[in-house]
Amino acid sequence: MKKEESYSLLYKQIKSLIAGENDSIAVMSNVAALIHDTFRFWWTGFYRVEGGELILGPFQGPVACMHIGFSKGVCGTAWKERRTVVVPDVEQFPGHIACSSESRSEIVVPVIQKGAVVAVLDIDSRELNTFDEVDAEWLEKIVLLLPPIGSERDVWLAAGCFWGAEKYLKLIEGVTFTEVGFANGNTENPTYKEVYTDQTGYAETVHLRYNPSVVSLRFLLEMYFKAIDPTSLNKQGEDEGTRYRTGIYYGNLADRAVIDEVVAEEAKKYGLPLCVEVEPLRNFYRAEEYHQDYLDKNPSGYCHLPVALFELAKKAKDTK
Ligand code: SME
Repeated sequence: MKKEESYSLLYKQIKSLIAGENDSIAVMSNVAALIHDTFRFWWTGFYRVEGGELILGPFQGPVACMHIGFSKGVCGTAWKERRTVVVPDVEQFPGHIACSSESRSEIVVPVIQKGAVVAVLDIDSRELNTFDEVDAEWLEKIVLLLPPIGSERDVWLAAGCFWGAEKYLKLIEGVTFTEVGFANGNTENPTYKEVYTDQTGYAETVHLRYNPSVVSLRFLLEMYFKAIDPTSLNKQGEDEGTRYRTGIYYGNLADRAVIDEVVAEEAKKYGLPLCVEVEPLRNFYRAEEYHQDYLDKNPSGYCHLPVALFELAKKAKDTK
């Protein structure tokens, strides 16, 4: 049977087998098994993006490395470049990670959901030149059948006074947890009072956790920009000081590309360079309990954001 026909059958088989199944590990296990059995590849499996790296599983075949960094090996390259990478001869691929010395050629297909790479599908062959654009095309179609993969993600957003910022960001569908605190400063265990002196380098920041299969980082950032004046340096509303600066802090380098993209798009709208700081998160300390969900506890408390924004956040839906 020609490769195209095998893939066409395989695609139908996968589709009917996984219909209605939402457990991503169960589905990935059977998808790996079906691909592996159909073509008798040497190794077929997934690496999932978890905590800023690729983590092994599920897969079929011999023992493999369990962790792969962003941009490392063929898998990390497919993740970074968000494209399928076909390697006719693994020895010719700079930085190839040899989990097994038997592997001679390889294909890695990124699994992209809500605009983010959430996993990669990696297949190894014991022969050279096994994979071409036919494999790429079909495997790309197959990974589109997968249910939402991956666990929650984090991002830290400084948007002026964190009382209003938390209330606003928390309303967005897909945000599963928020806490307010102090990010990227220079002292240990800062208190609100210390941060208030503006001498600690900390920014009032909301730590967000979100479900990437419900809301993308891009969408969250677009919502974030609706609640700040990105052209205002160290001042949001009436609140002034470096502690009220705007900032996007990330825990995973892989998030940087989408952050830069959104910031560039916003800068274009204003026609000015923006004052929003984009940095890796260096540190974050949770603020005292009375600051957490402050406006829920004190509905008439101070808030620099207009009520209309909360209505907007309640209705916001990432439909992409
Ligand atoms: N060769 C891969 C590592 C994973 S194994 O092939 C299973 C790479 O270079 O990323």
